[in-house]
Amino acid sequence: MSATLQRFDVRGLACVVTGAASGIGLAYAEVMAEHGARVSLFDLNATGLQAAGQRLRAQGADVRTAVVDVTDRAALQAAFERSASAHGGLDVLFANAGIDAGPGFLTPGNERNPAGSLEGLDEAHWDAVIATNLTSVFTSLRAAARLMKPKGSGSIIVTTSNAAIINEAIVGTPYMPAKAGAASLVRQAAMELARYGIRVNAIAPGPFVTNIAGGRLRNPADREAFQVRVPMHRVADTEEIKPLALFLASQASSFVTGAQLVIDGGQMLGRVD
Ligand code: NAI
Repeated sequence: MSATLQRFDVRGLACVVTGAASGIGLAYAEVMAEHGARVSLFDLNATGLQAAGQRLRAQGADVRTAVVDVTDRAALQAAFERSASAHGGLDVLFANAGIDAGPGFLTPGNERNPAGSLEGLDEAHWDAVIATNLTSVFTSLRAAARLMKPKGSGSIIVTTSNAAIINEAIVGTPYMPAKAGAASLVRQAAMELARYGIRVNAIAPGPFVTNIAGGRLRNPADREAFQVRVPMHRVADTEEIKPLALFLASQASSFVTGAQLVIDGGQMLGRVD
C-alpha cells in the first residue's frame, strides 16, 4: 500500500457515531467498521440500531450499540464513558444525530406555507430542533474532549448542512440557526482543541436520500423540488459520503481542522436551469 493510502488507515481506532441507525450516520458507522475501526453506534431507534449492529457484527466488525437520546445530557455523557471503557478510549467522533427541519415558509411548489412562517412555527418543534441539531453537538463535543485530551489526539466530525451557509425557504426555519450554530461551534472547538492534537471539522451535506423528514427524497415530487436546486440535478446516495468520512476520520486529513466540507452537487453555487 502506498504511503498516501496508509494515511487513510483507521484500523483499531475507537469511534462513536450518533444517529447511527439510519442514513448518513449509518454510512459513517459502516465505512469505519468496514475499515477495521471499533465502532459504537448511538441512536434513539432501538430496532434500527439492533439491526445495524447485527449486520456489522456478522461482517466481523467490533461494534457496540447504545440506545441513547442525544438531548439527554447525562445519558449521553454516560454512553460516551461506557463506550470508551469498552473500546479503550475515543479516537473518532461523528456527532451526526439530527432531526427534520419541519415545514419551510414556502412549500416545495413555491406557495406560502403558514405552518412554516414565523407566526405559525410550532414552538415545541423549534425547541426540539435546537436541542437535537445544536445543543447535542455541544454535549457530544464536550464528552469527546474529555476523553481525547488525555490521549493527545482525536478527530471530531460534525454533520452540519449546506443550510449552515445558505438559507433555504422550503426547509424549516429552526434548522438554519441550528446548523449555522453547529458550524460555528466546530470552528470554535477546532481553535480550542488544536493544542491537544484534536481536530474538529464539519461535513455539510446537500440533499441525501435518508429517512429524515419521513424519507421524503424518495418521493418523486419532493425529490424534484430539491433536484432543481442542485446544478448536478440529482440527490445523493449515502454511499457517496463514505470516502469523505474516512478522509476526515483518518490521518489523511492530518492538517485539516476547523473546515466545513460541503458535499452537495453544487447546490451552494446557486440554481442552474
Ligand atoms: P435519518 O433520519 O436517516 O437519520 C438520523 C438518525 O438520527 C436516526 O436514526 C434517528 O433515530 C437519530 N436521532 C434523531 N434524534 C435523535 C436523538 N435525539 N437521539 C439519538 N438519535 C437521534 O437522517 P439523516 O439525513 O441521515 O441525518 C443525519 C444528519 O445529517 C442530521 O444531522 C441531518 O440534519 C444532516 N443532514 C442531512 C441531509 C439530508 O439530505 N439527508 C442534508 C444535510 C444535513
